[in-house]
Amino acid sequence: MLDEKERILSADKISADEASAMAVSLRPTTLDEFVGQDKVCQNLKVFIESAKSRGEVLDHVLLYGPPGLGKTTLSNIISKELGVGFKATSAPMITKSGDLAAILTNLEARDVLFIDEIHRLNPAIEEVLYSAMEDFQLDIIIGEGPSARSVKIDLQPFTLVGATTRSGLVSTPLRERFGIPLRMDFYNHEDLQKIVLRGAHILNMPISNDGAMEIAKRSRGTPRIAGRLLKRVRDFSAVAGNKEIDSVIADKALKLLDVDDYGLDEFDRRYLNCIAKNYGGGPVGADTLAAALSEERDTIEEVIEPYLLKLGFLQRTPRGRVLSEQGCRYLGFKKFKTDNSQFSFMDDLGI
Ligand SMILES: Nc1ncnc2c1ncn2[C@@H]1O[C@H](COP(=O)(O)OP(=O)(O)OP(=O)(O)O)[C@@H](O)[C@H]1O
Ligand SMILES: [Mg+2]
Repeated sequence: MLDEKERILSADKISADEASAMAVSLRPTTLDEFVGQDKVCQNLKVFIESAKSRGEVLDHVLLYGPPGLGKTTLSNIISKELGVGFKATSAPMITKSGDLAAILTNLEARDVLFIDEIHRLNPAIEEVLYSAMEDFQLDIIIGEGPSARSVKIDLQPFTLVGATTRSGLVSTPLRERFGIPLRMDFYNHEDLQKIVLRGAHILNMPISNDGAMEIAKRSRGTPRIAGRLLKRVRDFSAVAGNKEIDSVIADKALKLLDVDDYGLDEFDRRYLNCIAKNYGGGPVGADTLAAALSEERDTIEEVIEPYLLKLGFLQRTPRGRVLSEQGCRYLGFKKFKTDNSQFSFMDDLGI
């Protein structure tokens, strides 16, 4: 099993300690402080301004994209920019419709309710959420059997901000009730460099522009990873007696952490090599790969694959995952040929 705690490149959920340490220090609190995701931010600015000027509630927002890109951060910012209250929960914590009713009836007018991992809502609860989102009304059934009765409760108008790493798993009726769907994408190197410089400044760490860029390039397009790598490089630099983090020390530290020039680590290489060597470059199904790597399919789909797809090392086809020509080159295969849409390799190993 891939140990998420040991994998420094994991952008997946982090420990409560790490989260609160980051929350205090690194989380931007306004749209202007939020680096990158320009289109998302521009759109939000317009919708927020317009809602504020009309004195109306902001439409429901769905934020979707890979882990660690700032969905939770942005949802906080939305409430701050609107100047309204913020309540946060996560779908797996809402187990009964009563839980949802308690949350919704406690909201004040125009509050933001953040529901993380919204794709994991149970269908019966989702159903209750529909009328709450649409008409700000709660339709619940009290009691069981012949004495059961349905009750309608009026709610204060509120903005639901839903976040998910798996937009494909959000049901169509739920997705359609979000007036503002926003896709978060991986960050480019320049934006990540700004995020690293900003983080270093807040944490009082001297760093050169080159040093920040070196960390940025190897952060898998993900601010959460950039923040984490910055802290590890800082430790390394301090032990080495450096006053400033520069690109040489950053490179050395990241190599020792087994993060290569593309930001990939041992697990990514094991994944790519598995497709190349065990399955002739693919296509191979996600379940087969998960079994071959003794890994959860969800981890592979949410954590490993998105960045490999973004790098262009991997392609998803209806028949399964296929290694691309760039992916082959990355692994050091010399030639690449396609034959009946099956990929095969002719390399030094003679495969
Ligand atoms: N645009 C940004 N500028 C600066 N820091 C950022 C930005 N986006 C995210 N971060 C930092 O990255 C970390 C991860 O962000 P966040 O927790 O909001 O991600 P997420 O998308 O909610 O992740 P998950 O899908 O795992 O819930 C935060 O600690 C935050 O400080
Ligand atoms: Mg989050």
